[in-house]
Amino acid sequence: MIDPYNNKEGVADIVINNGVISQVIIKNKIKSLTRKFNSSNNIVEIDAKGFHVFPGLIDMHTHLREPGYEYKETISTGTLAAIKGGFTSVCCMANTNPVNDNPEVTYYILAKAKEEGSCDVYPIGAITKGLKGEELSEMVMLREAGCVAFSDDGMPVMNPLIMRRALEYSKAVGAPIISHCEDLCLSENGVMNEGKLSFYLGLKGIPKASEEIMVSRDVILSRHFKATIHIAHVSTKGSVEIIKRAKEEGVSVTAETCPHYFTLTEDAVSGYNTDAKVNPPLRTNEDKEAIIEALKEGIIDVIATDHAPHHIDEKKVPFNEALNGISGLETAFALSLRLVHENILTLKQLIEKLTVNPSKILKIGKDGIREGSESDLIVVDIKKEWIVDKNKFVSLGKNTPFDGWKLKGKVIFAFKGKKFFDLREE
Ligand code: DOR
Repeated sequence: MIDPYNNKEGVADIVINNGVISQVIIKNKIKSLTRKFNSSNNIVEIDAKGFHVFPGLIDMHTHLREPGYEYKETISTGTLAAIKGGFTSVCCMANTNPVNDNPEVTYYILAKAKEEGSCDVYPIGAITKGLKGEELSEMVMLREAGCVAFSDDGMPVMNPLIMRRALEYSKAVGAPIISHCEDLCLSENGVMNEGKLSFYLGLKGIPKASEEIMVSRDVILSRHFKATIHIAHVSTKGSVEIIKRAKEEGVSVTAETCPHYFTLTEDAVSGYNTDAKVNPPLRTNEDKEAIIEALKEGIIDVIATDHAPHHIDEKKVPFNEALNGISGLETAFALSLRLVHENILTLKQLIEKLTVNPSKILKIGKDGIREGSESDLIVVDIKKEWIVDKNKFVSLGKNTPFDGWKLKGKVIFAFKGKKFFDLREE
């Protein structure tokens, strides 16, 4: 068991009673436990010898698409995909239809999640009405309705005064702003990273400066107005450098990246592969290496999926017309485990970025594997090799550039409250 919330690591027995962790027992006491429980009925015993137990993973950046785009994903399919990927909590972005810019939408998402969801769902409210960047949404009401953060993800907040006000409100309501950093003037409807490859492919590029200018601006706003900013999906070395310096100077900034940015480069779009079209775009090897180093040094706090499911008809079109996004929930953890298998991160460091760090940023009060807490944990075979098959995704979004990849690490059981999922495949 590795539990970064409680700084516990070791071999243990865990007893879950009616959805609540009733005992966490050090291995040398196993005998008395086994005897005690063998005598009673209704006990399911799982021998997890050789496997790992972690607190349920948290994805702080998911697109569940409901309401409005149920043909891409629903709360039901998205949360089941999350469980399959090891995520027992997801935070869903506001770019639904209608946008989650008013409490009615938040209530709808929460009610649906309660009815049909497999994992915990934490809505993220829009910063601006309709994600238009013009007028702040009712942030206080959204917070009261249950939003844990605010973001216009998919769209940047171009106007710095609006971002300033949003930061001030976010401080007042105690929920962070998650910033999609993109200067639309610079990205200018680009479709991939700007560089030699975009030139060669004849595609319009998005310069790295488009992201970095906005990371700088947000760090400056955060410094001056003393509010926390969380930078979404970091994709460039320059962004890493800005965040590093800001942290050294004591600015309240946190950051996330996604598996595709530390696994792939822009080369993945060669051949006009729309499944590798994502925003921000996949960058160069230099950026990928810097992101890996930033994860190692703790400059990037969180790994999030940016799970962005789309319908096949939105991807099987000419590259310029394809929508941005990767369906990530079912591959994110195994892709992240590559950093452990390659001795770049320790298992504990990786699990921190997928559990306690997002929990702290969002203040959602997860407390790990401890007696008296609701069961919220996963059992993982970190050595299990498997081949990604998009047709086996539970997610309706089959848009992945990782189809056919051999990965190592599979979630085999998940416990979430009274729910138990046996995820072993034949
Ligand atoms: O690739 C992306 N897809 N990036 C975003 O910022 C939004 C997302 C989506 O909603 O499809």
